[in-house]
Amino acid sequence: MSHHYIKFSNVSYTYPDATKALDDVSLMISHGERVALLGLNGSGKSTLLLQMNGLLLPSSGEVNVGDVPVTEKTASIVRRTVGMVFQNPDDMLFMPTVYDDVAFGPRNMQLPENEVARRVENSLSAVGLENQAGKASFQLSGGQRRCAAVASVLSMEPDILVLDEPSANLDPLARRNLLRILSSFTHTIVLATHDFELAKKLCPRSILLEEGKVIADGETEKVIEIFENKIL
Ligand SMILES: Nc1ncnc2c1ncn2[C@@H]1O[C@H](COP(=O)(O)OP(=O)(O)OP(=O)(O)O)[C@@H](O)[C@H]1O
Ligand SMILES: [Mg+2]
Repeated sequence: MSHHYIKFSNVSYTYPDATKALDDVSLMISHGERVALLGLNGSGKSTLLLQMNGLLLPSSGEVNVGDVPVTEKTASIVRRTVGMVFQNPDDMLFMPTVYDDVAFGPRNMQLPENEVARRVENSLSAVGLENQAGKASFQLSGGQRRCAAVASVLSMEPDILVLDEPSANLDPLARRNLLRILSSFTHTIVLATHDFELAKKLCPRSILLEEGKVIADGETEKVIEIFENKIL
């Protein structure tokens, strides 16, 4: 994949129970941009993020990551480019130890074990969990589990980082730490969040969703103002 942009062309998505969650979404995110996805509960943020690595495929329209259209066939290639941190960290942590959880992606990429170890150590220390590697994820606090989930994606060294509510449940210190980690990530970041401060500090651009439609896309301060005017 030469150029890691993300492009949505007229994407609609309806869940099997007939809930229409995305309605004709078109957007373009260039390589290196940091974009926050804002909107009320149920507005379609998670559904939109899940289209970025083929976990959900459009009911109509097309998603492209670089020059690759995201389809069932290309999803595994796309996932090497797009690292996704889910809304619920427990969906990502299933190995006996935190170390193995963070090693899972690199091992799956068939990297040699010394490279796996280097990546796991770097990723765990980036999120401040270097001393928890031997624990099981259920022995961590909620915030620590979120950090472990972030580490399990950083270890794959993705070109695009997609995060669903990354600052939920984090204490102020862990939140600041997360901001530091994400700020030092030089590639594309797309995150869904209700944390306006995080959006303002990290993302120059925001996209506002309402009932599955993009209703604003632009400078974060301005988009937040539009959002606040709508809900207050
Ligand atoms: N598995 C599912 N089956 C049916 N409908 C779903 C499913 N998951 C989500 N939905 C519906 O799709 C719409 C969008 O949900 P989504 O989870 O994308 O919202 P969200 O913006 O991420 O919300 P939140 O801020 O609460 O995380 C909602 O109406 C939701 O009820
Ligand atoms: Mg969500």
